[in-house]
Amino acid sequence: MKVMEMRDGWGIEHIVPGTRPDPGPPGPRDVLIRFEAASLNYRDLVMAQHGYGRMGALPFIPLSDGAGRVIATGAEVTRFTVGDLVCPTFLQGWISGPLRESYRGTTMGGDIDGAVRDFGIFPEAALVRAPHGWTAREAATLPCAAVTAWNAVICNGTKPGDVMVTQGTGGVSLFALQFAKLAGATVVITSSSDAKLDRAKAIGADIGINYKSHPEWSRVVRERIGRGADLVIELGGAATLDQSVRAVRASGTISMIGVVGGGSATLELGRVVTQAVRLVAATCGSREMFEDMVRAIDTHGIKPAIDDKVYAFSEVADSLRALGKGAHFGKICLENR
Ligand SMILES: NC(=O)c1ccc[n+]([C@@H]2O[C@H](COP(=O)([O-])OP(=O)(O)OC[C@H]3O[C@@H](n4cnc5c(N)ncnc54)[C@H](OP(=O)(O)O)[C@@H]3O)[C@@H](O)[C@H]2O)c1
Repeated sequence: MKVMEMRDGWGIEHIVPGTRPDPGPPGPRDVLIRFEAASLNYRDLVMAQHGYGRMGALPFIPLSDGAGRVIATGAEVTRFTVGDLVCPTFLQGWISGPLRESYRGTTMGGDIDGAVRDFGIFPEAALVRAPHGWTAREAATLPCAAVTAWNAVICNGTKPGDVMVTQGTGGVSLFALQFAKLAGATVVITSSSDAKLDRAKAIGADIGINYKSHPEWSRVVRERIGRGADLVIELGGAATLDQSVRAVRASGTISMIGVVGGGSATLELGRVVTQAVRLVAATCGSREMFEDMVRAIDTHGIKPAIDDKVYAFSEVADSLRALGKGAHFGKICLENR
């Protein structure tokens, strides 16, 4: 089978086409899929630089998120049949309940080979059916970004009348926007671009703030909504944490997810303590969360925000460079063509 892999070294420049043996027939509880599409997460950029150093040995197939068609099932498989469109889960070992240390070592496109390959064999327990009527390209946006947003927004108890602030117009942020609207919340979104803010408003954002022209955007949040936010989706890390702490209400929640602006932040502990701010970290989510999210998507008919430029699997290096430049809106997708 065809793959794209880092073979001779880490770094985007080392991603090259390769071949691997076609996988054999699936074991009794396994499923053989043909990958039709994949999508990028910021993590894939970090992984390509071997940024999570303990993970991955060369050669290494990148990208955590993909969607594929079931082409064979083991004799004991009950959840899927040939022809189903499915997604491998991001943390293959996490089925339900809270995150546990024992799930380490099971991440797609990190601990195990990722999605830019023709075929993969997965335990049926580590697959989720795609939303009804979705294309492979759409389904490939879900495993990391959408499940993380679902965990951060819905599993943190967002309810009608709440105010949520989300940062930037990348994959996680736009899913957080969509899920918060489903929950009946008012959504404030920040971006470096007024044009992107307009696009975010077109998919439901109530208030847009340009964080370049308003570096102290927490003030604008408080002016516009008249109080602090109930939930802040923290994606910028060192670049945003101080403003997030200022933007959240007393006893509100900051969902600690991202580090696009740096991973080592200083924190004004006095404010955190006296305002009883809840700092709650999230690492993607379980298969159960993924399935709950798919049910909500089926019920409400939402669609993912996908960037206009779609790449072939063979162009994965170019797609990662584009992600690094940050001009995209929503998810950057790739197709196995
Ligand atoms: N914990 C987890 O399980 C988990 C899961 C998924 C992602 N993440 C993390 O979440 C972050 C976002 O991931 P992603 O895949 O959604 O990234 P992405 O699609 O590459 O989006 C990144 C976006 O961040 C925005 N941004 C950059 N600097 C910013 C700042 N100072 N303030 C506000 N926004 C800023 C930009 O939005 P504009 O272009 O609009 O300015 C950019 O488009 C990454 O750090 C990633 O590693 C964590």
